[in-house]
Amino acid sequence: MKIEFESVKPHIGAIVHVDRSALKDEAFAQRCLEALDKHTVLVFPRIGLNDDEQLAFTDRLGARVEFSSSGEGSKNVSQAVLQVTLDKKISDRTEYVQGTYFWHMDGMPVSDIPPPKATLLSARRIAPKGGQTEFASTFAAYEKLSAAEKAEIADLRVLHSIHASLRPLIDTEEEDHRWRRASVGRERPLVWAPKSGRKSLLIGSTADRIIGMPVPEGRAMITRLIEWAAQPDFKYSHHWQEGDLVVWHNCGALHRVIPYDSESGRLMHRTSLAGTDALN
Ligand code: OGA
Ligand code: MN
Repeated sequence: MKIEFESVKPHIGAIVHVDRSALKDEAFAQRCLEALDKHTVLVFPRIGLNDDEQLAFTDRLGARVEFSSSGEGSKNVSQAVLQVTLDKKISDRTEYVQGTYFWHMDGMPVSDIPPPKATLLSARRIAPKGGQTEFASTFAAYEKLSAAEKAEIADLRVLHSIHASLRPLIDTEEEDHRWRRASVGRERPLVWAPKSGRKSLLIGSTADRIIGMPVPEGRAMITRLIEWAAQPDFKYSHHWQEGDLVVWHNCGALHRVIPYDSESGRLMHRTSLAGTDALN
């Protein structure tokens, strides 16, 4: 069987040319994990997985982590596959979905888990306008900092919170108080340095402040790093077709979606792989 990881850009993205039967194969899963470290974002065009197949592939890649009960969830809390949609008949957490309009990494403010390793998203229904998912490599962003910049940020820690990530959506004082109360902060290192693999930056909309730094300077630094990561050479934008599956390294890239209409029916099915570096 011929399997090919076709690079999209030197710093980010690969199209995976493979027969869907390979997804059951242990050796292929291993190759995908290696390709994730190298390419950060893997696209399986129109592979058309159903939920059971997506769950099985997720489990083959590693331990699964479920977010449905931890705040990013949809109406059915027992669901192993998270339905990401602005359709209020399916999801009662549309604020979280609108929060994905801004650069972020999944699971950063969740207090009791290491940062999730990867996210798998499959397109069930696409939007006629908007709805592209964009990725920005924080592997490349870290790597291309100067030695002086790397030294400056080496030991910094960042407080992540749901409240910070929803700040762009909050419109009233009541909402502000509600989300502030509901939001437990979680500290993470700014520089992600796994036991093996590439270093990265844990940043994004959930990053509220840098510990020990005045709030304005800390937020300015976080914003500059996000802008740096989102430069064109480090960025890939995915234009979905129904049935596409995209798998990305959650600690190696920021991601966001271009806003789409709640009436569009856009529906994505999401599963996540647990992180393994407990120190973070
Ligand atoms: C998410 C997310 C992106 C999209 O569910 O966490 O970022 O394209 N989704 O829907
Ligand atoms: Mn996300």
